[in-house]
Amino acid sequence: MSRPLVAPSILSADFADLAGGLRTIEESGADWVHVDIMDGRFVPNITFGPPVVEALRRRTGLPFDTHLMIVEPERYLKAFAKAGCTGLTVQAEACPHLHRTLQEIREAGCKAGVALNPSTPLAAVENVLGDLDLLLVMTVNPGFGGQSFIRSMLPKIEKARAMLDAAGSKAVLEVDGGVNAETAALCRKAGATAFVAGNAFFGHKGDRRELVQALRG
Ligand code: DX5
Ligand code: ZN
Repeated sequence: MSRPLVAPSILSADFADLAGGLRTIEESGADWVHVDIMDGRFVPNITFGPPVVEALRRRTGLPFDTHLMIVEPERYLKAFAKAGCTGLTVQAEACPHLHRTLQEIREAGCKAGVALNPSTPLAAVENVLGDLDLLLVMTVNPGFGGQSFIRSMLPKIEKARAMLDAAGSKAVLEVDGGVNAETAALCRKAGATAFVAGNAFFGHKGDRRELVQALRG
């Protein structure tokens, strides 16, 4: 199993001071920056696009774990890759040609990820496991930060772990939504290896270095 990774979500930072948000993430010792892209169509909320990602890229060397909550993500893969994203994670529900989309992500030079909404079964990725660098099990319905962790996703994480192991996959198993020190421990036990934290990270009152350690377990 890969070493636990922590990916604070810039979505919960002050949008008027994104560079400050990146500094906070760097100072915490976290591994990745989770970048939530929302289009107002796949999800109700709108965040930002490639030009903002490109501007962020100039301010940090940390990998960008980019979560595309957008319809027709294939139209924007190259733009996000060029903007400096390290990994591109598409939502399975938005990709009728998921196999091709994953190939295109790798061709663009990025790590290929797939996210599954809480209601989407793992079968959606069963036939593309060899094309996956990251599997993201959503533990909230995507669209907003600060929602509560859906506990009934724990058996799904366990199943995902078993599925990846059985296939000999080294893909990162990431969880996103309502992750804090307590829920991360449950996810770790279920086999998750990467932890996105938005509100728990930016809303943290104490030492964020300690929080990052706690999320890693
Ligand atoms: C939700 C996003 C998450 C969000 C998580 O749609 O995909 O990445 O930033 O925020 P918290 O950790 O506050 O649930
Ligand atoms: Zn996300």
